[in-house]
Amino acid sequence: MDPYLLGLRLGGRRVVVVGGGGVASRRVPALLDAGADVMVVSPKAAASLEDLAAAGRIRWEARGYRPGDCAGAWLACACTDDTAVNAAVAAEAEAQLTWCVRADDAGLSAAWTPASGRAGDVRVGVLSADPKHGDPRHSAAIRDAVLDGLRSGALSARHGRGHRGGVAIIGGGPGDPGLITVRGRQLLAEADVVLTDRLAPRSLLDELRDDVEIIDAGKIPYGRAMAQEHINAALVSHARAGRFVARLKGGDPFVFGRGAEEVLACLRAGVPVTVVPGVTSAVGVPASAWVPVTHRGVAQEFHVVSVHVAPGDERSTVNWELLGGSSGTLVLLMAVERIGAVADELLRFGRNRDTPVCVIADGTLPTQRTINSTLEQVESRVAEEGVRPPAIVVVGDVVNVAAEITELMRHVTA
Ligand SMILES: C[S@@+](CC[C@H](N)C(=O)[O-])C[C@H]1O[C@@H](n2cnc3c(N)ncnc32)[C@H](O)[C@@H]1O
Repeated sequence: MDPYLLGLRLGGRRVVVVGGGGVASRRVPALLDAGADVMVVSPKAAASLEDLAAAGRIRWEARGYRPGDCAGAWLACACTDDTAVNAAVAAEAEAQLTWCVRADDAGLSAAWTPASGRAGDVRVGVLSADPKHGDPRHSAAIRDAVLDGLRSGALSARHGRGHRGGVAIIGGGPGDPGLITVRGRQLLAEADVVLTDRLAPRSLLDELRDDVEIIDAGKIPYGRAMAQEHINAALVSHARAGRFVARLKGGDPFVFGRGAEEVLACLRAGVPVTVVPGVTSAVGVPASAWVPVTHRGVAQEFHVVSVHVAPGDERSTVNWELLGGSSGTLVLLMAVERIGAVADELLRFGRNRDTPVCVIADGTLPTQRTINSTLEQVESRVAEEGVRPPAIVVVGDVVNVAAEITELMRHVTA
């Protein structure tokens, strides 16, 4: 017979999980998300379960299963690798009319766990009609296809539910469309109007429905751009007209992104606003070139600096003396055109001429390129190579770690 699909509301209700291995560690977080009062019974528990017990989020009975453990439970999960124990748990649960999911044998299980996931306010669950013989990867693949469709907007979750309003300030990550967060992508798919920046992952715009209005607020350095006050005004006026507005920005909205200015403008106008953090280029772009911004024994600190004005410019508030004297990694944004002045300043305040420097342009994009140099040479190398923004400059010994990684990578085939 076909299973009867149901959504269990487990808030404050006891769920007993017998077993503390891989299956239990997958099930328990979802049970906690549903608000269940989870008790794990197992002589040993995976580290993640131990952590949850130490934090008081679950109760862990560090012993084997005993008859009576299912007392008071609304649901039991038999997840040990011992068939006899799982059978005993299932029998106890059955006797007291408690649903039991057996991880070892779907055919003997009273209840089945669907492949599940969430896209916005929609919860998706997929069950094979015959989990005993069906391949669980098939259900998981269908679940993933549905979730992907909902997140990208290819399947619209908008119909039949309340329409979202206000503004979402979304960090799109450094450029690769795969580096936006799941929430960012969901909210983008629901938008009526999208205001984008030049460095936002614009290829995601192709996936939007035809009726979505796209406003290009791109700021081209020294070129045409929509003034910030016009962007703020557009966010507010579209939201006031009842549209859900997505403001798609590059990297993280709050890292040299004027995201907080936009949040303040919305709130001052009484418009509800949410912010979705993004992968900042300050960390994501170095990582895409194998540069770790910290590395044990090499760098304990990293400084992220905007060089939109040169050292010495009266508008600069950066303490170059401190940065020159520090041994921490420097991650410089908007620095390409002023790299000579920056290098001079760092040398003046104590950095070594041979300090490794890495310049990464178009990070995470198909056109990404990396130039390795030293503090003494970087200005001429950048000029020779004709490096153009956007680029990140990393200064410090962590650049040598990237060299070691790339050398080893040459010997490791996928
Ligand atoms: C106005 S800042 C915005 C930073 C953004 N909010 C973030 O968190 O990444 C723009 C600067 O970020 C850096 N940047 C952004 N995306 C980049 C990319 N894909 N590759 C290299 N640098 C990038 C460049 O230094 C660029 O000039």
